[in-house]
Amino acid sequence: MIALVTGGSRGIGAAIAKQLAEAGHDVVLTYRSGGDTAEATAELCRACGVQALALQADIASEAASEALVSRIRSELGPISILVNNAGVNRDGLMMRMKTEQFSEVIETNLTGAFILSRLVVPDMMKARHGRIINITSVAGIYGNAGQANYSAAKAGLIGLTKSMSRELGSRNITVNAVAPGFIDTDMTAALPEKLRAGALERISLGRFGEPADVAGLVAFLASDAAGYITGQVVEVSGGLSL
Ligand code: NAI
Repeated sequence: MIALVTGGSRGIGAAIAKQLAEAGHDVVLTYRSGGDTAEATAELCRACGVQALALQADIASEAASEALVSRIRSELGPISILVNNAGVNRDGLMMRMKTEQFSEVIETNLTGAFILSRLVVPDMMKARHGRIINITSVAGIYGNAGQANYSAAKAGLIGLTKSMSRELGSRNITVNAVAPGFIDTDMTAALPEKLRAGALERISLGRFGEPADVAGLVAFLASDAAGYITGQVVEVSGGLSL
C-alpha cells in the first residue's frame, strides 16, 4: 500500500515514515524546506525494501497539494494511508497575537489536512479501504497558554477526524487522531528550559517521548489489526496531566 506522510522529513513524521516502510508500505514523505534531511529519511525507508519518495510541497497551498496527489497517483498509484503530520507553531499570548499569526497556523495544521484528505478520499472510496491518521496534540484537547492558534487548529483537527470518520466509515475508511504530549523534536527543542522542567514534573513516565513512541501507534492504526477503530483520539503523552 502507498502511504503519504506530510512533514515526513524529520521529527515525528520521519519516524512515522520509517515505521510504515518497516511494515512494508511504499512511502511518500513531504517537506516544506530541508530537502537533504528529507532525502536521507527516504533513503532509510528504501533500506526497508520499499519504494520511497521525498517531495517538496507546501501543504498550506491547495494547488501544491493537488499537484502532489496527482504526481503520486501517476508515479506510484493511489494513496491508501494518509498521515496528516505537518504542523507549525507560532506561539504568543492571545492578546498580542496577530491575525496572520493565527491564520498561518490554522492554514497549515488544519486546512492543509482537510484539503489533502478530500484529495485522497475518492481513491480510498473506490478501493473500499483507507486509513487517515491526523496528528493533533494534547494542546488541542486541554488548550495551552500561549498557543491559542495552535490549540484551535489541533482541536479543529479532532472535530475533522470525528466528522470524517462518520462520513467515510461505510466505505471502510478509518479516520483517527493521535495526540502527542511532549516529544523530543526540533519543535520542542525551542522551548525555554523553565518550561521543559515544568513539563517534566507533570509527566508520569518522567521523560519526554521519542518520535518512535508516536510512530508505533500510527503504524498500528494504519494496520489491518486496527480495522475496527475509527473516530478516536489517542494520547501518547507519558501520562501528562495539565
Ligand atoms: P517538526 O517541526 O520537527 O517537523 C514538522 C514537519 O512539518 C517538518 O517536516 C516540516 O517541513 C513540515 N511542515 C511544516 N509546515 C509545512 C507546510 N506548510 N507544508 C509542508 N510541510 C510542512 O515537528 P514535530 O515535532 O516532528 O511535529 C510533527 C507533528 O506533531 C506536528 O503536527 C506537531 O504539531 C505535532 N506535535 C508535536 C509535538 C511535539 O512535542 N514535538 C507534540 C504534539 C503534537
